[in-house]
Amino acid sequence: MTQRRPLVAANWKMNGSLASIRPLLKGICSGLQAKCDAEVVICPPYVYLAELTDKLGNSGIISGAQNLSHLESGAFTGEISADMLKDFSCKYVIVGHSERRALYGETDGLVAAKFMRGQDAALVPILCVGEQLAERESGDTEVVIERQLNAVIELAGIKAFNDAVIAYEPVWAIGTGETATPDQAQEVHAFVRLLLARHDDAVADKIRILYGGSVKAANAVEIFNMVDVDGGLIGGAALDADEFLSICHAARGS
Ligand code: 13P
Repeated sequence: MTQRRPLVAANWKMNGSLASIRPLLKGICSGLQAKCDAEVVICPPYVYLAELTDKLGNSGIISGAQNLSHLESGAFTGEISADMLKDFSCKYVIVGHSERRALYGETDGLVAAKFMRGQDAALVPILCVGEQLAERESGDTEVVIERQLNAVIELAGIKAFNDAVIAYEPVWAIGTGETATPDQAQEVHAFVRLLLARHDDAVADKIRILYGGSVKAANAVEIFNMVDVDGGLIGGAALDADEFLSICHAARGS
């Protein structure tokens, strides 16, 4: 089995101000121990990417973005291109977050196009998948995950997942304080890996699958201990330096 380096990514969403992110970044950078096994990524609002790049220095922490346009450039008011993100040293970009899907009407097809655009610009997409509460309750979790993944596999091809990360974020666990149990997370993560393995065993074995949804210092260890969980995508708890640092240090290499 491939050794997968854990990854812990902060998704700050639309939170913070210059005044609040400066001490937050300082706390995270100074508290991150060299023995942290995880690759640590921070995805701030776009307008703070320059500040992030400046403050991260040689901390080893990597910049990411929360979204991108599926188009290269042009008259698309308010959009941000993959190349612009590269200008600010972004390595990762989140695509298909459930908030984008639910609140901004992003379809599976658009998410797949964003995934490809990111990769074409040498960004590593963090593809979010996850079911709504009603879908889980009606037993449709796997159907939803399969549909979301297949849209990307069909457009980008299975080999594209060699340079991508998947985040399983059950919508009912995001920002609710309700976390999937470690077993519930493991079950879906194993299913994601199985789906990919139907196309390519090596890709399935190598890809990192993060869990997201109310991860905090108090529950990170038990979730990260699951065999198919390779780290986390962290919302609210990433806005507190001590919480986020504990979560980073909870992610151990296998
Ligand atoms: P919370 O950690 O606040 O539940 O958010 C998870 C998430 O949506 C990360 O992308």
